[in-house]
Amino acid sequence: MRIGIFGGSFNPPHNGHVQAANVAISSNKLDLLIVVPTGTPPHKKLPENSPSPEMRLEMTKNAFSELKNTIISDAEILSTEPCYTIDTVNSIKSEYPGSEMFLLLGDDMHDSLLSHKWKDSKKLLRLVTPILLPRHVIDISSTELREMLPNREGTSYISDDNYSYIIKHRLYNAKPDWDWLRGRAHEMLDPGRIPHVDACEIEAMRLAERWNVSFEDAREAAILHDITKKLDFNENLCIITGHGEKIYELKKGEEKLLHSITGSLLAKSMFGMSDAVTNAIRWHTTGKSRMSMLEKIIYLADYTESTRNFPEVEELRKKAYSNIDDAMKMGLEMTVSDLLSRGISPSAVTYDALNDLPD
Ligand SMILES: [Fe+2]
Ligand SMILES: [Fe+2]
Repeated sequence: MRIGIFGGSFNPPHNGHVQAANVAISSNKLDLLIVVPTGTPPHKKLPENSPSPEMRLEMTKNAFSELKNTIISDAEILSTEPCYTIDTVNSIKSEYPGSEMFLLLGDDMHDSLLSHKWKDSKKLLRLVTPILLPRHVIDISSTELREMLPNREGTSYISDDNYSYIIKHRLYNAKPDWDWLRGRAHEMLDPGRIPHVDACEIEAMRLAERWNVSFEDAREAAILHDITKKLDFNENLCIITGHGEKIYELKKGEEKLLHSITGSLLAKSMFGMSDAVTNAIRWHTTGKSRMSMLEKIIYLADYTESTRNFPEVEELRKKAYSNIDDAMKMGLEMTVSDLLSRGISPSAVTYDALNDLPD
């Protein structure tokens, strides 16, 4: 049996690792590849938002899941003691006696092993044949990837599962790529609602610029504000209880409000959004007292984006740019009278929002 051993920190694992492993398996006719994510010494301080060993292990499993005859070993990554390659190789050798062993190495590791900088390197070289990994397959390193992720880049170098995982936990200070985030939101929307949400994104960015609010926050909130809108009452309730939240008694007509609660919960739990963003989603339908500028912007972008065409929309749009509190007042009052005309009593927080605005 020909066994390849592929060690590395996989922080994070990327498509370059997987493709290099794939080439190594076929060109060396390996029967089995054992991927060994390395541990981190207990005393070593990791940069902020670094994944835990368990998270790194999970991402490594995810990354290599499509590769045949490949297993992931947790021997080094979950160990609290420093691990040396010679020990790992010895333990694999005793598990698979009589097998021929190969060690997959990047160029720098390859050089350092051959110049005997490793523990027991001579012994090690009698046990394994080094295989130099082809780096040119995909020219990216984990270090480069870690630099790209906070700039909303790098999606094409990483599996979608792992990218979602990194964004959800905001590992490496990652921020979501705009096209990726919009794509995820679109998957959750009724197709008919997509033009509204796309127009809302544009309007929210314009308003954010006008009122000096982070356009990134406004854009994220607008993209995600209606992600649970197509779900029915029970699906919304499931999300609320699933997030450990309680549901208060709903009055007639208030089922419509659930999507702002569940949208904000999912924005946090699926996409790692900040409190500022999740609150803007939370209050986009009813408003509330003491709204932040971002919350007002999302409320008004939702109301006045370019596909809206009710009679007063032009006036409301103008106000949103000239006096945002006047616009809020007009929007909230219109909502109240619309609800009342349909026999639905407006939510108490909507009255709070109105009372809170300057006369
Ligand atoms: Fe909505
Ligand atoms: Fe909306």
